[in-house]
Amino acid sequence: MTSLKDETRAVYDGLHREQLDDDAIFERFVSLTSPSYFGVEENHFRDKTVLDAGCGTNANAAYALLQAGAEHVCALDVGERWMTTAREVLADFEGRFTLVAGDVEALPFEADRFDFVHCSGVLHHVETPEQGFRELARVTRPGGRLYVGITGVGGGIVYAWVNLLRMRYREDASFRRIVDGLSVEQLQWWVEWLLAERRAHEATSPEEEAFFRSLFDRDLVLTIKDRLQAPTCHEFAFTEDQVRGWYGVLGFEAVERLTRYPRGIGNVRRFLAPLYYRYESPLARLLFGDGFIQLIGTKSVPPPA
Ligand SMILES: C[S@@+](CC[C@H](N)C(=O)[O-])C[C@H]1O[C@@H](n2cnc3c(N)ncnc32)[C@H](O)[C@@H]1O
Repeated sequence: MTSLKDETRAVYDGLHREQLDDDAIFERFVSLTSPSYFGVEENHFRDKTVLDAGCGTNANAAYALLQAGAEHVCALDVGERWMTTAREVLADFEGRFTLVAGDVEALPFEADRFDFVHCSGVLHHVETPEQGFRELARVTRPGGRLYVGITGVGGGIVYAWVNLLRMRYREDASFRRIVDGLSVEQLQWWVEWLLAERRAHEATSPEEEAFFRSLFDRDLVLTIKDRLQAPTCHEFAFTEDQVRGWYGVLGFEAVERLTRYPRGIGNVRRFLAPLYYRYESPLARLLFGDGFIQLIGTKSVPPPA
């Protein structure tokens, strides 16, 4: 029987490979992981040993952290299939990275190993997110930092819809076929069909049509598949307070919620970018509830014996 982690890995392997076909998508992801986002100095990573847990086939955060000067990055994900591609992506940093097959819920590292632990978009995909968090905390060295990005609790209108569509995807084979078969070519065909039908009935302008076309691209197709295909067992289940509690119980200090403005989205989601950044605004709360919870904390140093 395929395990949850193997099934999740297979979905993301496909999505990450498609993302790599488009330089703009990869560059957008890389730009999200920067020292300023973590609130640290530009040269902060220079002498740091870093873990990127659940790095994905495109290893975008590992790439960004190496680009930011990390001394060494361990990039970990499930199985080994992703490694050939990740090694090509990270080729410029030869000698400064290690690729590791592993499970975030049982990390193959000794305690207190890393100066900085990064885990984005992974914990809501595992059997026991809290166990994954405990493992990430265990391998962070005292005085080191742990960054976690996890989807927050529902309640937001958009997330409520996403959950409905996720259920439909699991239960309705014909809907599943449509989602699985969705491609940017298919999407663009529908867009052209809509425009042609509309043109036949009322006056339109080339500018208006060009704008409408710009709302749909490959990145959007991959986002839709990301939200619907992953066999996540925790559908937007966590609150910020709960995740802060995990940090607190394990002795982390200075826990802060981070936010960033995701520049460079080409499709319709570019108009939502201000809400991803201002996650606390009433409109963002209405649409996304707790949003994508991005927390960073410092593991406390035990007092001298
Ligand atoms: C949404 S992707 C995020 C990838 C990358 N961190 C990023 O931000 O682009 C989720 C990743 O978590 C990985 N993953 C899922 N379950 C895992 C587990 N138990 N241990 C380690 N990685 C896991 C998947 O294989 C996938 O690459």
